[in-house]
Amino acid sequence: MASQEDVFKKLVAHCKEYGFVFPSSEIYDGLGAVYDYGQMGVELKNNIKKYWWDSMVLLHENVVGIDAAIFMHPTTWKASGHVDAFNDPLIDNKDSKKRYRADVLIEDHLAKFDEKINKECEKAAKRFGESFDREMFCQTNPRVLENVAKRDAIHSRFVAALEASDLAELKQIIVDCEIVCPISGTKNWTDVRQFNLMFSTEMGSTADGAMKIYLRPETAQGIFVNYLNVQKTGRMKVPFGICQIGKAFRNEIVARQFIFRMREFEQMEMQFFVRPGEELKWFEHWKQFRLRWHKALGLGDEKYRFHDHDKLAHYANAATDIEFQMPFGFKEVEGIHSRTDFDLSSHEKYSGKNIKYFDPEINESYTPYVIETSIGVDRMFLSIMSAAYNEEQLEGGDSRVVLKLPAVLAPVKVCVMPLVKKDGLPEKAREIMNDLKFDYKCAYDEKDSIGKRYRRQDAVGTPFCITVDHQTLEDNCVTIRHRDTMEQQRVAISDLHNIIGAEVNMKNLFKRIVE
Ligand code: GAP
Repeated sequence: MASQEDVFKKLVAHCKEYGFVFPSSEIYDGLGAVYDYGQMGVELKNNIKKYWWDSMVLLHENVVGIDAAIFMHPTTWKASGHVDAFNDPLIDNKDSKKRYRADVLIEDHLAKFDEKINKECEKAAKRFGESFDREMFCQTNPRVLENVAKRDAIHSRFVAALEASDLAELKQIIVDCEIVCPISGTKNWTDVRQFNLMFSTEMGSTADGAMKIYLRPETAQGIFVNYLNVQKTGRMKVPFGICQIGKAFRNEIVARQFIFRMREFEQMEMQFFVRPGEELKWFEHWKQFRLRWHKALGLGDEKYRFHDHDKLAHYANAATDIEFQMPFGFKEVEGIHSRTDFDLSSHEKYSGKNIKYFDPEINESYTPYVIETSIGVDRMFLSIMSAAYNEEQLEGGDSRVVLKLPAVLAPVKVCVMPLVKKDGLPEKAREIMNDLKFDYKCAYDEKDSIGKRYRRQDAVGTPFCITVDHQTLEDNCVTIRHRDTMEQQRVAISDLHNIIGAEVNMKNLFKRIVE
């Protein structure tokens, strides 16, 4: 069986071969951790964004959207804390000259203990069969207990070092755990240093008064500085939310794993403004809503988990990640944060403007608290592609690569194919397509055998193929072929809308996520 690493490599190659993702400016050998989306990728990406946007603004009458500029006044980033505190702790291996995030090296090391514990449990489960009691086993097995104790000891030191921003202690943990560089295999490390992740540029003439400005590292601040504009002009009442989709930029040092960690990426963020004291109730509410949003896609409930933060950011009083099981392990796709009144109070202080909200129900002015949901479009894209990518052996020794994308998100919904390129079949196929194209992204293919045409559509995840044959001209029926089951049905052309609509309509997903 292919390793997860092999599967991931194949997925990256597949994304390029079928027009999903290309390395940026590839003819110049690319640009590190920057990618372009191709003709298929952009459709999938747009569908993800629509699924998110509509689930926020259609399903919630108290959530609206904005589209703020990427450039913001530089004081914004002073107030938000990004100028002083948006740093990663970095460490270099002197032999390989590779640079790593010190916290990621330690987290990966901690994950190895969990893997060992899981392996012990799996072995025991096989030995004991149905009578296996995992909890009891973990409480009594000496090897499990030893690994738990080691993991917990390192974990406590790690949390304490992060809390205190103690870079020397982070290095010491790496030394004590004998963590080696994955490339050189040596323990020859530099000290740990902090590195600011914001890109900067200059606005205006350079002679006098050019202003240093930043490319936004998150979209959230565009929402904070506009919250009162939206509240007043939209007559919004707390609690209410503002959402936004847009590009963000971070000079990631350890950019790796394809589109998982990029230097230019896209975020879908919502800030939800609540009364102080009610934030933890709303935090729990949005946590559950966001998980339902993910699970409704049907990629497998077991592929998601919450990961509560060990170290809370200076502004947060609760934070969790929704992690997804990527080919390289469980990884963060979305963050949900209770950001208190940190950002709004800070903007109030730095701008000198009163941005308090007057709450008519209690006749009081206050600075709202904020719950944030923040998801990366590109990471969502990667999680969907990695769950969808399948290599299947078929009966008769044949094989296929199929993207089992959720039908609602598939770039192309239907491919219409005349059986042959003559006898009026192309014209009939075009007629069907011309009717369907107002509702669904359609493709037309008349080249090669039907089998080859099916494979091409499987590879890009098209849920339906419709074949027009000679019989169609007489009975107005076509063959519809379903991507995942490869089942073929003879149906009337007049039924196509209902059959396709039932699978690709987002409404069905939305019904699953509203309570
Ligand atoms: N406003 C809060 C915020 O930006 P974050 O955890 O730094 O929080 C939120 O980022 C989400 O943005 C992450 O869960 C991830 O999906 C995405 N993201 C962050 N950095 C990224 C990067 N370098 N490349 C791709 N996606 C990234």
